[in-house]
Amino acid sequence: MHSFIDDPRLPDDVTVADLRELAERLARAAGDLVRTGRPDRVEVASTKSSATDVVTRMDADSEALLRREIAAARPDDAVLGEEDGASSGTSGITWVVDPIDGTVNYLYGVASYAVSVAAVVGAPDPQEWTVLAGAVHSVVDGRTWTAGLGGGATVDGRSLRVVEPTSLAQCLVGTGFGYDADRRRAQARVLVEVLPRVRDIRRLGSAAIDLCLVASGELDLYYERGLNPWDMAAGGLVAQEAGAVLTGLRERAADHEMTVAGASGRVGELVRLLEDVGADADE
Ligand code: IPD
Repeated sequence: MHSFIDDPRLPDDVTVADLRELAERLARAAGDLVRTGRPDRVEVASTKSSATDVVTRMDADSEALLRREIAAARPDDAVLGEEDGASSGTSGITWVVDPIDGTVNYLYGVASYAVSVAAVVGAPDPQEWTVLAGAVHSVVDGRTWTAGLGGGATVDGRSLRVVEPTSLAQCLVGTGFGYDADRRRAQARVLVEVLPRVRDIRRLGSAAIDLCLVASGELDLYYERGLNPWDMAAGGLVAQEAGAVLTGLRERAADHEMTVAGASGRVGELVRLLEDVGADADE
């Protein structure tokens, strides 16, 4: 078991368990706002990387709530959020937050969207960070996954442990697609190779929830190219603390190039397949 209790990077005034509790409280509070404040007709407030990469007013309101609550509870911590970027701190801890992961689902009223909150030490970059604690609150069904480094993963208080499927062909595999047309063309090409080799594919629309579903056995495997730190920080820890392997390709840690999660044997097979078909390139 890994303990960060004596780690010099963890400030004296806090434990992993405290951070996990706070992550859960924050994710639930923002989740309540997203749930109760959803108008019948959601409008697009602005767009980001492409015309289909949308921001709604609720993305901004949810992130503002998270930032207010973090400042009140831990004023010396930094924040990296999907909508407002990075703000600095002095404690060494950064909160990596996604105010609505699955914004397109939120826009359309499709049930898979979540608030994702994680506390990390080290640079807030998946190649460099250590994720200490995280919580993902699925807004529509109200489920909350949490994890603390070395402290396991739960959904609504129930401990989670991944099970190894007998073969890749038996695996239900989650994935997602980016917003850029060239990236999507390449992702479709990879899918052509993956789909015939697995039980089936799910594209549910929230990477944070997908990673948590791996932890709770509702997906066997998950892979996606192009994730941002806030998409994967909390869900990645939940998956790992449930016993899943979280990795990239070619011995790289999981990050925007590629993120793969699942029980170790089948992850190894999927990683080899993704490497063979060049899933970490956009050609
Ligand atoms: C997106 C979702 C989606 C994934 C995209 C992400 P957003 O996040 O997690 O499932 O496929 O790569 O960008 O834009 O809804 O916060």
